[in-house]
Amino acid sequence: MYQATKHVLSVCEHLCALLPESERTKPQVLLLAGGVVEYRNDTDRELALRQESNFHYLTGCDIASSYVCIAYQPGTSLDQHPSVELFIPEQSLADMMWSVPPPSIAAAQETHDVTSVENLNALLAAIEKHVKAFPTALFHVLPRSSPLFPTLSEEYLAPILAHEGGAVTDFYLLPALHRARLIKDEHEISLIRKACDISSRAHETVMRVLGAAVKGGIVPAAGAGVDRPLLPSEWLIQKEAEAEAIFVASTRREGAVHQAYLPIVAASTRASTLHYCCNGGNDKEFAWGPIGAHDHQNNNSLSSGRQLKPQVLLIDAGCEWTCYASDITRTMPVGNGGKFTPEAKAIYELVLEMQKACMDILKPGLHWDAAHLLSHRVLVRGFQRLGIFKSPNSPNSGSWASEEAILASGQSTAFYPHGLGHSLGMDVHDVPSASKPAVNPSINNNAVELGHSSFYQYLRLRVKLEPGMVVTVEPGIYFSPHLLASIRESALIDHEVLKRYESVGGVRIEDVVHITADGMENLTKVKSDVEWIEGVCSGAL
Ligand code: GLY
Ligand code: MN
Ligand code: MN
Repeated sequence: MYQATKHVLSVCEHLCALLPESERTKPQVLLLAGGVVEYRNDTDRELALRQESNFHYLTGCDIASSYVCIAYQPGTSLDQHPSVELFIPEQSLADMMWSVPPPSIAAAQETHDVTSVENLNALLAAIEKHVKAFPTALFHVLPRSSPLFPTLSEEYLAPILAHEGGAVTDFYLLPALHRARLIKDEHEISLIRKACDISSRAHETVMRVLGAAVKGGIVPAAGAGVDRPLLPSEWLIQKEAEAEAIFVASTRREGAVHQAYLPIVAASTRASTLHYCCNGGNDKEFAWGPIGAHDHQNNNSLSSGRQLKPQVLLIDAGCEWTCYASDITRTMPVGNGGKFTPEAKAIYELVLEMQKACMDILKPGLHWDAAHLLSHRVLVRGFQRLGIFKSPNSPNSGSWASEEAILASGQSTAFYPHGLGHSLGMDVHDVPSASKPAVNPSINNNAVELGHSSFYQYLRLRVKLEPGMVVTVEPGIYFSPHLLASIRESALIDHEVLKRYESVGGVRIEDVVHITADGMENLTKVKSDVEWIEGVCSGAL
């Protein structure tokens, strides 16, 4: 069973630590609304509910339109055992006829780690009971003006506000939840591991379908796709949408209900668009004919006599498992018999080297800024080796600069503009207020070497690592015309060499890792070494 009461205790402890001293010993009451089913316009059909993350964290409850009321007070019987009262909607005849009704009270009691379960019509009386029993209580709610959280009906706040001195605050609860959620317990790790396992198999499935086609192993029978639809075993991947479909189908057939975010499926130079998924993303054919740099309009029609151009296919996709996310990126070769071109291979190996260097140093106490800076350092070193940044060995070395000087210039940001990774949990960019605090002594007191300020614009994790954190490690190298515009005149770069690599588009490799007591555990099963990726994508493995 989902260990909700442990989470409640952790949140209450964090909450009290955030309160002014004078408020800490008072009773604290937490009131949260769960997610509500939404309907697609004029279809009379509900959209799939994805429970609000904080509500799920405190209750493990995925029943729509539920509420929870939690009471806690340090130094009393509620100290180690806060009361957690869950309120779920009654089963209605209409529900039973049209849809899957909420469980009975008895069934919900069996499956939820809470103090009690009642029907929603008992909630108002329960709030009035808390107001009477704890006249000095502080009532905590999630931010009320934010569209990110379910609306807490005014009806339920009225009895609190009607009480003399009744206080409702939305200042402390969300930061307390984020701090608690930053550190995952074993059960949460097992749910993230399961999401990663399913997503790993989905990534591998896409690669194996590509490889089978290279070997001529996917040959639709006569009439398939004309007289009858193609069967899944006849599906080829020749378009971004086809790769996305196979990824999503693979996760769904293993029971995943939601993707943790819209998949990003970008072929060829479109891989340089970081979040290429919406508004025309994931929707182009692979490159068969001439294709321009950063071409989002590639519309060449397929014809049997033409060869796929050598190109990369970047897939950044991960499903959820019972509200816990995965977030995995693999970049694979398409065309060229399922092998990378020499340029794509060089960039791929460098991104892998950036990832490995960072993973090697991950352990509790390490500041994430230091790992991020290291990833830029490895990029700069690798680009000097390839001759993109001039080095003393470059044929055109007139104005070469040292690794330190290139790092200080910030020019690596033009190739790697995003952060090394982020906290991951119930949400993909999990617990932002705890992972990148607005007031952050860990960076303001010069505790870590920072490097150029441009490295940090999109870094979403800026604290020291602790055991139980789950983070992504996702370096990338991109050749985006928009970003390269800033370095076109740079004297540090050999522009002739750079030109040779631009058609690679982009490479990102992203794994999910769990910070352990003395290092890290990679939760991502799908492999990423060149030999394996090329072996599978060429159909040899
Ligand atoms: N999938 C979005 C990211 O990697 O952060
Ligand atoms: Mn990510
Ligand atoms: Mn990702």
